[in-house]
Amino acid sequence: MLMCLCYGISCSEIKKIVQSGIITTEGVQNECQAGTGCGCCLDALKLMVESEANKQQNELTLTNAHAVVVRGSSRSQCP
Ligand code: FES
Repeated sequence: MLMCLCYGISCSEIKKIVQSGIITTEGVQNECQAGTGCGCCLDALKLMVESEANKQQNELTLTNAHAVVVRGSSRSQCP
């Protein structure tokens, strides 16, 4: 599904950009030009970037929590 008709940028392209570490709307705009034409997609773009950035942050938090649990488990098995 296209997010930005002016530049032919799809939702999946936006998600990939955010997953690469670009987590701001301005950063995504700089990367692919989405939202810099007529502006009709800008609100939807902002929501998608925010949503994907939050998912990224949650995954990072879960990964860090898992690492803490694994470290804690290892420590408790030490004599
Ligand atoms: S549809 Fe995205 S800038 Fe026009």
